[in-house]
Amino acid sequence: MPNAYISGTGGYVPPRVVTNDDLAKDYGIETTHEWIFQRTGIEERRYAEDGVGSADMGYEAAKIAIQRAGISVRDIDMMIFATLSPEHHFPGSGVFMQRKFTELFEGDMPRYVPAMDIRNQCSGFLYGLGTAASMVQAGACKHVLVVGGETHSAALDMTTRGRTVTSLFGDGAGAAVVSATDDPKRGVRKWTLGADGRGAESLWMPVWDIRKKPFVPLPDGRMGDAVLKPEMVWPQMDGKQVFRHAVEKMCMALMQVCFDLSLSANDIDLFVFHQANMRINQYVAQQLGIPEEKMIHNIHKYGNTTAATIPLLLAEAEETGRLKPGMKVAMVAFGAGFTWGAAIVDW
Ligand code: UT7
Repeated sequence: MPNAYISGTGGYVPPRVVTNDDLAKDYGIETTHEWIFQRTGIEERRYAEDGVGSADMGYEAAKIAIQRAGISVRDIDMMIFATLSPEHHFPGSGVFMQRKFTELFEGDMPRYVPAMDIRNQCSGFLYGLGTAASMVQAGACKHVLVVGGETHSAALDMTTRGRTVTSLFGDGAGAAVVSATDDPKRGVRKWTLGADGRGAESLWMPVWDIRKKPFVPLPDGRMGDAVLKPEMVWPQMDGKQVFRHAVEKMCMALMQVCFDLSLSANDIDLFVFHQANMRINQYVAQQLGIPEEKMIHNIHKYGNTTAATIPLLLAEAEETGRLKPGMKVAMVAFGAGFTWGAAIVDW
């Protein structure tokens, strides 16, 4: 069975910085830096400019990951795009990103690289990593591009009514190339994924309901302009419920991958946690005896970037030299669905 490892990572965040104070000043939201920072660890986040979407940012991150993997986009056998903020209902962001690689279509031999979309919110990157590693290990692909990209800023309730959710999220994208290798020292050693659909409505954006005919409410049943209530358009969250499940399932998933490989926290060099709330991560670390110096964070500057978070962290850790070949890395995420996942990778 071929060995699958992460051969390249890349990250992209839009240039516009929005601080906690900006949410109050520029949008008139009744909030304070102190409230947001003390409860979440977030100081600022990035917002994409109008006209920029998840596939655009994913493309920027993917280009870096492909270049760092030392390959060309024509070597990619499959693209996986994880997002909860796709450009449109359909088709998914994968094809919108794929077509930006115009070199795929140049010349007499177009490369019609398959583009798969994954809808697993904050766990999306780990669902993508598990899928990519399996594809490589099965011998079906040599190089799989996994991208997490999010444009939350276009779909947040920028009023006091939406402040709990709005203060948490930011935009960005991260990417990783998963490749086959003969090197036994490197590889995706173990991954686990989980879901509990009973939590689906604890964090969701029910902007339409396909069970209803038509799927968006129309005034007086007339075909015409749809009328959407705020609770349908904007994300809704039961924060305390999500918090509780996040701590529990992140601990469980991390313990499972470590148990499967007979590892303890001492054997792990770097812990890459999804960044939804600094307090969630502190609880998990405390429960599992993980020292702060083995953890990396970006929540203070990017907020929760959902599927983009883990690859953004990996890319930055590689850039700064914090993450080097030979290290054992543990990743874990929890998100809407509920969905969760964890992985152990020898870098
Ligand atoms: O990947 C999964 C993504 N989501 C998460 O992981 C989120 C998990 N949950 C959380 O992180 C926390 O529940 C939050 C940080 C979102 C909220 O913290 P909380 O301690 O559960 O606060 P709360 O929702 O119970 O709100 C407490 C108070 C409320 O006021 P009242 O009703 O007590 O008067 C809120 O209206 O704080 C108010 N509040 C705010 N005040 C200022 C809520 N958001 C804000 C805000 N600024 N941004």
